[in-house]
Amino acid sequence: MSDQPSISSLNEVVDLRTALEADGRRLVLTNGCFDLLHTGHVRYLRQARALGDALVVALNGDASVRRLKGPGRPLNPAEDRAEVLMGLESVDRVVVFEGDRATGVFEAVRPHVYCKGGDYTVENLNAEEREALDQAGSEIIIVPLVPGQSTSQALRKLEGDGERKLRLGVLGSGSGSNLEAIYQAIEAGTLDAEVPLVISDVDGARILDRARGRGSETVFVDPGPYRTKLGAPAQKEICDRLKAARVDVVVLAGFMRIVKAPVLDEFDGRIVNIHPSLLPKFPGLESWKQALEAGESIAGVTVHFVDAGMDTGPIIAQEEVPIEPGDTPKSLHARIQKVEHVLYPRVIGELGAKLRDCI
Ligand code: GRF
Repeated sequence: MSDQPSISSLNEVVDLRTALEADGRRLVLTNGCFDLLHTGHVRYLRQARALGDALVVALNGDASVRRLKGPGRPLNPAEDRAEVLMGLESVDRVVVFEGDRATGVFEAVRPHVYCKGGDYTVENLNAEEREALDQAGSEIIIVPLVPGQSTSQALRKLEGDGERKLRLGVLGSGSGSNLEAIYQAIEAGTLDAEVPLVISDVDGARILDRARGRGSETVFVDPGPYRTKLGAPAQKEICDRLKAARVDVVVLAGFMRIVKAPVLDEFDGRIVNIHPSLLPKFPGLESWKQALEAGESIAGVTVHFVDAGMDTGPIIAQEEVPIEPGDTPKSLHARIQKVEHVLYPRVIGELGAKLRDCI
């Protein structure tokens, strides 16, 4: 067909912007992978188009989709993804960019409006991209996502597991008794989940042995040169592994290092930790000992979402554990762990039920 639209070059898009501006009209730009187009995308693109006079989609090249979404993606190569997009009335031009960021496109095109889906906020846009948009004087508009519509959900249906189990990625540095409790809850049918991946920052940690014994994939990630921190390459590797294993919820089970970007951004609202105290009391190490030394009569357990702090982040559930006369650090810790082993699987299951519609 001779009138088949073709992928635009960056120069063509720049020319379009110039022509629009000469007429006092506005160019809207958005970017993304658009691997398997669904109604969420289509509605979003229609809304984006309505923000100006022409909509340009900057499409991630295949290598960057692979890096962002895991080795099985994209399902469709860039030419095909572009052709589907160009078939939409709302899309005027498609330009393909390589690299993980669209910064170069923003700098060249200087869109009047930049539009992004509601999984982003103006604040959590990538800093480099945000800077380029600010420099270009672009107005940034976030359009709400259509609930329940996502490529991963569509993929799940295609794979025939629309009712699939919650996939847990567990991070631990020690014995893994909480992981054991999770396996037991799964076996008992009280937790509808599976554990495709267990990661440790300690080579040979017992948690890895337990995981191997249960058929989970196990990975030791070299934490880098620090004693208590995780180096940036380790943070990235953990994130990539969790994504490649299509993990829904990241479960920290005695993981002794602070998890940061990119894991925190990628799994925002889907990373949990268990801590052996009634937070915010006694964060940090050996909190049962801290409680005893402080003369408390009640200790406890907290499950919380993970943020960039140590044992901070919104609390999901807490349970008190009485301190008994004559308790030693060991006896108290053992009583606390018993409570952990019931509370953690329960809270993970409840979180999974809440997330089921949006993961
Ligand atoms: C637990 O006490 C948990 O509260 C803390 O680390 C410990 C992990 O124990 N965050 P285990 O490795 O699950 O046995």
